[in-house]
Amino acid sequence: MTTVDLSEIPAPAGELSVWPASTTRLPHGDLAVGGVSLTEVAERFDTPVYVLDEGEVRGRCRTYRDAFPDAEVLYAAKAFLSRAMVRWVEEEGLGLDVCSAGELELAVTAGFPPERIVLHGNAKSPRDIEAALRLGVGRIVIDSPSEIARIAAAVGPEGRQKVMVRVVPGVSAGGHDKIRTGTEDQKFGLSLTDGSAQDAVARILGQPQLELTGLHCHIGSQITEVEPYLVAVRRMVGLLAGIRDAHGVVLPELDMGGGHGIGYRPGEAALDLTALARGLRAELGAGCAAAGLSVPRLVIEPGRAVVGPAGVAVYRVLAVKRTGEKVFVAVDGGLSDNPRPALYGVRYAPRLIGRHCAAGARTATVVGRHCEAGDVLAADVELPGDVHPGDLLAVPVAGAYQLSMASGYNMVGRPPVVSVHEGTSRVLLRRETLDDFRNRDIGR
Ligand code: LLP
Repeated sequence: MTTVDLSEIPAPAGELSVWPASTTRLPHGDLAVGGVSLTEVAERFDTPVYVLDEGEVRGRCRTYRDAFPDAEVLYAAKAFLSRAMVRWVEEEGLGLDVCSAGELELAVTAGFPPERIVLHGNAKSPRDIEAALRLGVGRIVIDSPSEIARIAAAVGPEGRQKVMVRVVPGVSAGGHDKIRTGTEDQKFGLSLTDGSAQDAVARILGQPQLELTGLHCHIGSQITEVEPYLVAVRRMVGLLAGIRDAHGVVLPELDMGGGHGIGYRPGEAALDLTALARGLRAELGAGCAAAGLSVPRLVIEPGRAVVGPAGVAVYRVLAVKRTGEKVFVAVDGGLSDNPRPALYGVRYAPRLIGRHCAAGARTATVVGRHCEAGDVLAADVELPGDVHPGDLLAVPVAGAYQLSMASGYNMVGRPPVVSVHEGTSRVLLRRETLDDFRNRDIGR
């Protein structure tokens, strides 16, 4: 494989600004990520293929550690999880946020220390709770009143489990309606304004099997402004003070969730992590001082901002056709490996790789191969006018919530994930094959 010397390479700018920092241009219109040519990845592993830059993931973990030196940083596993990812996150000193027995068991069996794991979920199954207690997760975040007695009973008279309470702080933020979780019109958390959060706290404090370590909130996802977090902190500190006044208990932790926004296309804003860290520290310090509280330990749970920009999806063009006014460029993946454009209207910036183009740009719509008109990966993007079957299209910022939300639709099979680092590549997740579909089909 072509290797590239990564030393002294400036971070990509302009049209490559949302690509991994290791991205470099190679001859013949090719790009390298992590020192590995993308066209060689496509040839060796076939397409569609997802490339994950280990250095970018690790670098982003370190950026969080540096920006939030006093906080506990939990990587939100729902964005993307594999055993290698578990190892990288562990080695970089982050904790983990999981939301099912599946994510939890994968992490623990891959060697992640359970005490550094927090379990979430608005509807935890008996299996989730059993796995959490058996494996010894650090904390369970309580999301509904009925969980209190269920978890206490499962812990048993001799045990004690650390828990937090998920609060709805009444702050609306996030990139799309479906991922705004800070207000009362959605399913997560316990309301601050109707008193459900306060009731849950009182009930937990009455359960000897449960140790309440703090409060949690997650106001939404793909948030690009600091201000909503500061409003939420103010309300959470108000609740901490209320709990101190009502029960004489000062809770030592405040988990402000994740939701840190990233740019998907050049020029799109990302949340400024330094400004967030500074703002949270100042707001928390001032609020606690005014309320006469000692400052709780801050916990944050970024998912997308750790892994999203580290991923690149590479597709091969299967068909190009003009229908009416539109040019459709159809690739060998789509809705089943990336449901995000269909779900949230997210816009991506695909790029032709692997050859030089003499032709000028024209507007085209990149579609997938699935049996839905809504299977659109990127509507109305600029691509070379001579794009044709056999060309490769690469889509940056593909690392978060694409493969973790992938489906078996049309039995196309989920693509492999190939990690790239310092000029070498290796398969983390193999391609899903017809045999996989056949093996679980045990009826007749
Ligand atoms: N903590 C909790 C409790 C969460 O529910 C989430 C995401 C996170 C942390 C991490 O949020 P992040 O930093 O990744 O934004 N499928 C959607 C995103 C759903 C987010 C769900 N919860 C998407 O593709 O945009």
